[in-house]
Amino acid sequence: MSADLSQSFRIDPADLPGEAVIFGSTTAMREIRSKIDCVLSSDLPVLIQGESGTGKEVVARFLHTRSNRCDAPFVKLNCAAIPASLLESELFGCEKGSYTGANGDRPGLVEIADAGTLFLDEIGEMSWELQGKLLGLLQNGSYTRIGGHEERMGRVRVICATNIDLQEAVETGAFREDLFYRIDVVSLRLSALRDRKTDIPQLCEYFLQKMSHEFRRSIPQLNPVTLHLLKQWDWPGNLRELENWISRAIILGDDEALGAELKRQVETNNALASRQHRLGSLNEASRQATSTATSALILKALQANHWNRRKTAEELNMSYRSLLYRLRDVGLPQRWRGHRGRPSAH
Ligand SMILES: Nc1ncnc2c1ncn2[C@@H]1O[C@H](COP(=O)(O)OP(=O)(O)OP(=O)(O)O)[C@@H](O)[C@H]1O
Ligand SMILES: [Mg+2]
Repeated sequence: MSADLSQSFRIDPADLPGEAVIFGSTTAMREIRSKIDCVLSSDLPVLIQGESGTGKEVVARFLHTRSNRCDAPFVKLNCAAIPASLLESELFGCEKGSYTGANGDRPGLVEIADAGTLFLDEIGEMSWELQGKLLGLLQNGSYTRIGGHEERMGRVRVICATNIDLQEAVETGAFREDLFYRIDVVSLRLSALRDRKTDIPQLCEYFLQKMSHEFRRSIPQLNPVTLHLLKQWDWPGNLRELENWISRAIILGDDEALGAELKRQVETNNALASRQHRLGSLNEASRQATSTATSALILKALQANHWNRRKTAEELNMSYRSLLYRLRDVGLPQRWRGHRGRPSAH
């Protein structure tokens, strides 16, 4: 890779929020900080999970800048942003003529990130086939470009992020189990902002400084009533939503008007929450009814197939793994051990 290209993937730690801002003061986030310390000098893959806007990319960048790979590139690939057909060549590169339009050899991001960190965002969106090729890289450290024969060594540390429940995706057959265990060596689950509301004042201060600098305005003070309201909102969009709120406050220069808007939001939300609470029992009843119907259907299919779970899964047009998951979910026994037509509880 040319020196220029590699330079463009360097992270300046000054562009990241300070450590105290990133991790704040709650026990859960402090534990994540300690876990990061344990893996800084290793090459272990890291899986960062958390709702959208909780700072997964910020944490991945932080980890890279503190690791012994900090002088090498940090390369990000958003698996959801690129069509599946192009993702493989983006990641592993291609050789001339490997497909229409490939008119020259091209390195992939694994090569560009050499000796550094490869950040695979939204990993849950990666196709099954490509998951297999990524598994090969993680297992053997090697890969080939599309259309190439030469085996290349990939010397990258892989950090993955996702806002879906990967464990559940494994259970429903949407994500490879073998890859899951490879990438989930060190697991960091970031808190939602509603679970770290004590950090809101410090985060506001940081965003006020950052945005004022960006918009070339003087740094405003938030009035205490507004600050109190900010702590009442649950921030479904997490830190990104708070950051946007502060940007609007700075641009409009009127945190009181925005505070009033927030107050309405909080009140509407509270009204909604109590309505949802009332609806809760109805939802629970319909969930129960679905579960009863599902277990009856599965039980019938199991009996018809003499408790052969693979055949049953085929007949029900579901993966074997999903069937086991469903059995557990609806409380049916996992296997048949009885002699007189009754399944055992084990
Ligand atoms: N701890 C933090 N301190 C300051 N700013 C933060 C922090 N975490 C996130 N941000 C800011 O919030 C925004 C969202 O962060 P980021 O992109 O890392 O979240 P994400 O979890 O990757 O979101 P998504 O799931 O949508 O990709 C960014 O603008 C980022 O700068
Ligand atoms: Mg992200």
